[in-house]
Amino acid sequence: MHLARYNPVRFAHLPTPLEPLPRLTEALSGSPESLKRGGGGPNLWIKRDDCTGLAGGGNKTRKLEYLLGDALANDATTLVTQGAVQSNHVRQTVAAACRFGLDCEIILEERTGSNAVDYTQSGNVLLDDLMGAKIRRVPGGTDMNEQLALVAAEVAARGGRPYVIPGGGSNVIGALGYVECALELVNQANEMGLEIDRIVTATGSAGTHAGLVAGIAVMGADIPILGIGVRAPKAAQEANVFKLAVETADLLGHKDRVTRDMVVADCDYVGAGYGIVDEEVIEALKLAARTDAILLDPVYTGKAMKGLIALSKQGAFDGETVVFLHTGGAQGLFGYQSVLDGHLG
Ligand SMILES: Cc1ncc(COP(=O)(O)O)c(C=O)c1O
Repeated sequence: MHLARYNPVRFAHLPTPLEPLPRLTEALSGSPESLKRGGGGPNLWIKRDDCTGLAGGGNKTRKLEYLLGDALANDATTLVTQGAVQSNHVRQTVAAACRFGLDCEIILEERTGSNAVDYTQSGNVLLDDLMGAKIRRVPGGTDMNEQLALVAAEVAARGGRPYVIPGGGSNVIGALGYVECALELVNQANEMGLEIDRIVTATGSAGTHAGLVAGIAVMGADIPILGIGVRAPKAAQEANVFKLAVETADLLGHKDRVTRDMVVADCDYVGAGYGIVDEEVIEALKLAARTDAILLDPVYTGKAMKGLIALSKQGAFDGETVVFLHTGGAQGLFGYQSVLDGHLG
């Protein structure tokens, strides 16, 4: 596996730390549910991809190193992308455009239906504005791929050269960033003498999960990966991740190394829908913050932690060393202030 062949540009703060979560580990093994089973739970570690740099960090930084490499190789003048109003992907894409002196046009879908001022004006969208993005807003349910094509055509009609980045930066080029993360994580674990039994990550537009699966498979590292879904049902999520993982491994020349059983998503923790916060998500945000001072986000990592906590209490990870991939997004907390208000006592 020779990732330099794909010409990434370098701006991420790497390697991100791989650290233990001693107090969260203790809290889970000491929970009433665990004690009823006679104790036990996972030994939790965290891979700090919330610390990748680029306007607050998060998983998109790694994807954008490869996507920007491709955009610059194609002489792009303007990045065009889309996401929900509080999209972390959009915020980081705008940041990458700034870093390389490119224009950035973004389309924000009012996907959650929230009209709260913090949701519509603060958090990520405030930062998009601060960094000078050209912002368009469209109603929930709009065909976002069609919107991307329309905006790209407008840019081209003005004489610009658009580079379209799909939602979440999730295509084979973006997924290479998470192939690289898999490589980095296994190297760190080897150096530390840490045996990893499982990796747990939020899984949404699929690029992070697919890149990890492809990386672990091509390396032959044999570490199971559990994606905790934030939007789609299990069958659709696993199909998306598998397709992209195979395509990514194919780009690396090892398509056959990814098998269907390597892709596992648990989508039982989505709750009422994408970007809708429930009591268990708030409990997960609080527990991570109040044990090991980890700041999660309400849409992705908070939901993944909700799943990890519930599964730990059921005994799913007893005796395992589990690495939670922190994919960032804490900037989105400020977009959810009114949702969190009154729950943080
Ligand atoms: C903070 C955060 N975590 C996880 C994800 C999910 O990653 P992916 O879209 O690659 O599945 C996202 C996607 O936007 C995100 O912003």
